[in-house]
Amino acid sequence: MKYFLTLVLGALSPAVSSASTNGNIHSFQHQCTALSRTLRAPNTEVILSEFVASGVKLTFPESANNTCPKSVISLADICRLRLNTTTSSTSSVITEVFMPVDWESKGKRRFLMGGNGGNGGCIPYGDLAFGNRLGFAAVGHDNGHAGDTSVPFRNNPQVLEDHIYRALFVAGRVAKVAVRTFYNRPISKSYYWGCSAGGRQGMKAAQDFPDEYDGILAVAPALYEQALNGQASTYFKLTGPPGSPTFLSVDQWKRVHRMVIDQCDWIDGVLDGVLEDPMKCQPRPEALLCGAGQTWDSHRCLTAKQVNTVREFYSPLYGTNGQFIAPRMNPLTREFLGFRVNYGGSPGPLAEGWYQDVLFNDPSWTIANNFSLATIDYDMQVDKYGVGTNKTDLSALRDSGGKLLLYHGLVDGLITSELSYHYYGNVVRDMGARPEELDQFFRFFPISGLDHCFTGEGPWFVGGPVQTDVRGALNIDPEQGALMKLVRWVENGTAPETLMGYKLINGTVHGKREHCKYPKKTVYRGVGDPDLPSSWKCSDAFV
Ligand SMILES: *[C@@H]1O[C@H](CO)[C@@H](O)[C@H](O)[C@H]1NC(C)=O
Ligand SMILES: *[C@@H]1O[C@H](CO)[C@@H](O)[C@H](O)[C@H]1NC(C)=O
Ligand SMILES: *[C@@H]1O[C@H](CO)[C@@H](O)[C@H](O)[C@H]1NC(C)=O
Ligand SMILES: *[C@@H]1O[C@H](CO)[C@@H](O)[C@H](O)[C@H]1NC(C)=O
Ligand SMILES: *[C@@H]1O[C@H](CO)[C@@H](O)[C@H](O)[C@H]1NC(C)=O
Ligand SMILES: *[C@@H]1O[C@H](CO)[C@@H](O)[C@H](O)[C@H]1NC(C)=O
Repeated sequence: MKYFLTLVLGALSPAVSSASTNGNIHSFQHQCTALSRTLRAPNTEVILSEFVASGVKLTFPESANNTCPKSVISLADICRLRLNTTTSSTSSVITEVFMPVDWESKGKRRFLMGGNGGNGGCIPYGDLAFGNRLGFAAVGHDNGHAGDTSVPFRNNPQVLEDHIYRALFVAGRVAKVAVRTFYNRPISKSYYWGCSAGGRQGMKAAQDFPDEYDGILAVAPALYEQALNGQASTYFKLTGPPGSPTFLSVDQWKRVHRMVIDQCDWIDGVLDGVLEDPMKCQPRPEALLCGAGQTWDSHRCLTAKQVNTVREFYSPLYGTNGQFIAPRMNPLTREFLGFRVNYGGSPGPLAEGWYQDVLFNDPSWTIANNFSLATIDYDMQVDKYGVGTNKTDLSALRDSGGKLLLYHGLVDGLITSELSYHYYGNVVRDMGARPEELDQFFRFFPISGLDHCFTGEGPWFVGGPVQTDVRGALNIDPEQGALMKLVRWVENGTAPETLMGYKLINGTVHGKREHCKYPKKTVYRGVGDPDLPSSWKCSDAFV
């Protein structure tokens, strides 16, 4: 049947051989190179079109002076296309389209757009290669600026507009034209995946351009970005620089981490250093307060001021009029990323850059000197190009038949996972839709033991974006991963009830657990090896 369809479609297409039906690799290479002459996409010039064999290491010399990826190893025979699309007289977006040879048979003519992280100027090459391995035509873009800082936004509103939503939209449109042109076939389904800033982009697509993607995998999204910047700034005010009486060192945060395990690990019935339901955990940092004559050096205890820092860290942030701004940080914060970015004793660079380069357009503005809760009010009021990504009416996505899969790590040290619960609850209330109704198109999975996007001490690997180039990732069956679960939901109506998580440590799998869909809970059965999925069940007994 499939063979027959291929023949019929082949007969309908123009006489020129298409890249996908002609199995001849030379023809594929030839047509790839020819794209630089043949491609016609709006406001777009082809910078490069080249064949790249599987296993070849691609290098990106243009990333020499920034923190973007310097190389990637291709995981399929692909046609690589690099495009430059003009978005205004002062802005342009670089898009990379990686198109595999077996798009038709293996890839089922699927399109996959990847998201950006941090300040968004890096193309997620690892995710592109991973997508190619599954047969997707995989796409990424530089979000309208090179490198992971906010400096390009300074005095440059068009570049900022690209960054917040337009580059995603434009790159998606242009890449779809490129894929259709190259294969001379229609795209069957379009997908998006991204974490952090890329998670926010996915939510932006769900909220504002629901017809562009059939399936969206949004991970640890930077929703309510003004709140996140305010929270990061508040952490610096709270800790002060290293050496301040209110500051905690990495070792002291590790001590706090162990304290939380002591206080809360029992709640889910398994002492494994992983909290299945951290919402039930209310840390009591006073447990670490030094007694008379005790010090950190002598007793590994904290001063009253440090205890207060931890207390505030685990409390929601309220604004100028006492209004809720952001939820508390996850109880089991690890030092992996958050410490380096937001509470390591220097002002959060993402937040400070946003204020300097965007909101106040003043490089002398600093969190230390100039931040107050009123800054958050002003940022929200301005809501530059809708950066807040806070729309809760997802009815257009529902009506277009799109599917949105959201997951968030429960030990995320950068963007508290409680923000995703918060958003989900807002959607339920604002749409007046019970979770059973949202399940039709929007499902949320809390992932225990996962830090920000990747790594962690629990079953954190779920085959999502940014997890693709960690050690051992390629040894795990991608068919069980979050991306392919989304694909089966979109294409086969098999909606995911769980996401399989792998406890991947140093490249080796040490256990597996199925993470249940919210508001169900992942509950230990009371007996059995906690590293086996069969020892857990999804329960709605307590929701
Ligand atoms: C990187 O910076 C150096 C020194 O400023 C410069 O010579 C070089 O051209 C830059 N490389 C790229 C790829 O921009
Ligand atoms: C992309 O096009 C713009 C014009 O819109 C140009 O200024 C820019 O240099 C081009 N970038 C590259 C990498 O060719
Ligand atoms: C920031 O704070 C410094 C020090 O208090 C002050 O001199 C400066 O005027 C402030 N800048 C703005 C833009 O408010
Ligand atoms: C989103 O944020 C904007 C600006 O902060 C606010 O005006 C709007 O009411 C918010 N929307 C929702 C649905 O909460
Ligand atoms: C597709 O759906 C059918 C019935 O809903 C199910 O039996 C089958 O396993 C699904 N196939 C895949 C690949 O998920
Ligand atoms: C992983 O590697 C680190 C650093 O080499 C080591 O300290 C740790 O014990 C290893 N963990 C496991 C579970 O093998």
